[in-house]
This record gives sequence, structure tokens and C-alpha cells, in this order.
Amino acid sequence: MTTIVALVSQKGGVGKSTLARAIGREATRSGLEVKIADLDTQQGTATDWYRLRLNAKIDPAVPVELFRTAQQALAVAERYDLLIIDGPARTSKGTLDIARVANLVVQPTGASLDDLRPAVREFHALVQAGVPKEKLVFALNHIGTDVEANDARDYLTEAGYAILAGHLPERPGYRKAQNLGYAITETRFSGLNGKADALVQTLIDRIAHYG
Ligand SMILES: Nc1ncnc2c1ncn2[C@@H]1O[C@H](COP(=O)(O)OP(=O)(O)OP(=O)(O)O)[C@@H](O)[C@H]1O
Ligand SMILES: [Mg+2]
Repeated sequence: MTTIVALVSQKGGVGKSTLARAIGREATRSGLEVKIADLDTQQGTATDWYRLRLNAKIDPAVPVELFRTAQQALAVAERYDLLIIDGPARTSKGTLDIARVANLVVQPTGASLDDLRPAVREFHALVQAGVPKEKLVFALNHIGTDVEANDARDYLTEAGYAILAGHLPERPGYRKAQNLGYAITETRFSGLNGKADALVQTLIDRIAHYG
């Protein structure tokens, strides 16, 4: 059985590709056959990172492939234990197609109301279109303080959605790691790795239920 996890958002730059890579890295390390399906054909962010990682000879390799649609990614899904769909921003129709095929839909979001409002609207639209609410979960990213994280958590809980445990603080160390082909669980800072790992592991634990 293949599990499909999708990273989606209406807003750009929230951390879809960042989380896709980290989930891919941790799931691979836990022994799963993983493929990241990069649906962002314009930017190919995950694909670039894969090439960087291969050239830097970083283990484990986490294979990434570009696909034009969720359906095309789905066609190869059965070869893997876990297919991670890294969605493009700002494509409502595409997002619905992705959400329909995924077992779990993760939407990273920042903590400002400007981030939270459209993020909630995006999930509401998916629910309206018939996607079961149980499939949808938020991940808090670009966080400044624990208080900020808690406030955002309250807002999203009030809106009726699940949120992954933990959050990613906004840190240059995460960017630096990815610039070099590493995942955010592989930075030079154990504190940062621990925070990223805590977030990703709650997700992988959820994935284990589908296997
Ligand atoms: N917690 C963080 N701290 C610092 N930088 C971060 C953090 N999370 C993500 N970034 C950086 O923010 C930028 C956007 O992240 P990412 O590419 O993962 O977002 P995205 O949702 O995939 O964007 P897009 O919508 O363009 O596909 C990247 O440069 C990434 O390295
Ligand atoms: Mg991206």
C-alpha cells in the first residue's frame, strides 16, 4: 500500500518544498521507499535540491521527479511506500486534484492573520469540495516565538482543523542547510534539527497508520 502525503498552499513560500524534503529524508532513513513528486514545474525547487544533494554525495539520496499533474504522479505511486507531493502555490484546481488523491494533506502556514486567514480559507474550500476534514492538517512555519505559535495554534483549532505538534522557527540555519543540499533535519545545529525532527516525526507516525 502506498501512502500519499501532499504539501499544498495558496500562498507561496510557506514551506511546502522545505517540508517535502524533510519528510522525504526522514522517511527514507526509516526504511521506506520514497519518491518526492515535484508538481512545481515552473520552479522545480525540490528537483534542484535533489541534484544538489546528489552532487554533494549526501546520504540517503531522496529521489525527486517532476510531474505535470497529480494524476501523472499517481501513476507511478504504487512502486513506493510513500509518495510526497510537493504542490505549486496558487492553483486552486490543481490543489483539489492533489487533495483528492492524497491520504494526508499538509498545509504549512505562517502565524500572522494575513497568513492564517487564506490558509483556513484554502482548507474550507477543500472541505466544501468534498475532501474529508480528517485528511487535512496544518504545519506551523516561519515562527518567531512560542507565544506566536500558540496563538496561531488556537486560531487554527478554533477554525476546526488539526495541527502537527511542534513548529519550525524562522532561522537562517534552515535556509543554509537547504542551500547545500541538506534537509532541515540535517542542519549544523542540533536544536534546529530537533525542532524539525519533532514536527516531521509526528507526520511520519501518522503515515504509519496508513501502511
Ligand atoms: N523555518 C524557516 N526558516 C528560515 N527559512 C525558511 C524556513 N522555512 C522555509 N524557509 C525558506 O523559505 C523559502 C520558501 O520555502 P519553500 O521553498 O519551502 O516554500 P514553498 O511553500 O515550497 O514555496 P513555493 O510556494 O514558492 O513553492 C526558502 O528559501 C526556504 O529555504
Ligand atoms: Mg515549493
